[in-house]
Amino acid sequence: MGNILLGVTGSIAAYKAAELANILTKSGHSVKAVMTRAAAEFISPLTLQTLTKHKVYTDMFEPAAYEDVRHISLAKEADLLLIAPATANIIGKIASGIADDMLSTIAMASPAPNVMICPAMNTAMYENPVVQAGIKKLEGLGYLFVEPKESLLACGDLGKGALADLDAIVKAAERALARSGTA
Ligand SMILES: Cc1cc2nc3c(=O)[nH]c(=O)nc-3n(C[C@H](O)[C@H](O)[C@H](O)COP(=O)(O)O)c2cc1C
Repeated sequence: MGNILLGVTGSIAAYKAAELANILTKSGHSVKAVMTRAAAEFISPLTLQTLTKHKVYTDMFEPAAYEDVRHISLAKEADLLLIAPATANIIGKIASGIADDMLSTIAMASPAPNVMICPAMNTAMYENPVVQAGIKKLEGLGYLFVEPKESLLACGDLGKGALADLDAIVKAAERALARSGTA
């Protein structure tokens, strides 16, 4: 069983992260969650804290209980940083080397094959060449992706960009953990 750090960003699909945390925890994984400020506009940290039975990390500058550089220790202890849902913004930040909040800084401190990104966004955003270039760059560097699916999106558009099905994400995460010898 692995140590999974679940990164949740500000997509309308953030509500699905709660069920993802629930499934992974009940499957026996240790799951800790990190949320961006935008993600906390969509679901409450309390929801993820209750389902994972761990503190939820949102603020990089929150004083730690002891001398611990938390973004580094969280990155080190994680077998997998699973970012689901992943916004266009977090993909762009990781691809550009930007580390300006807890999640993007943890991502910067994590080796590429330990990071799995599950994009969720409007079709026009997903198909934007800037987003696609970021994805291609990250794939080339060894980051893992779970492709979004085609669906009727929350904005009313029909197209690719909906978060992949949770069972596909769980299977991909477990395959990655097995490959790294931690599941
Ligand atoms: C109602 C609503 C839904 C949104 N859904 C998405 C989404 O599914 N995907 C996305 O990339 N951005 C979405 N956004 C925009 C992001 O929240 C915004 O880019 C934010 O800066 C992302 O920050 P983060 O990546 O730090 O979480 C949405 C915004 C709103 C107001």
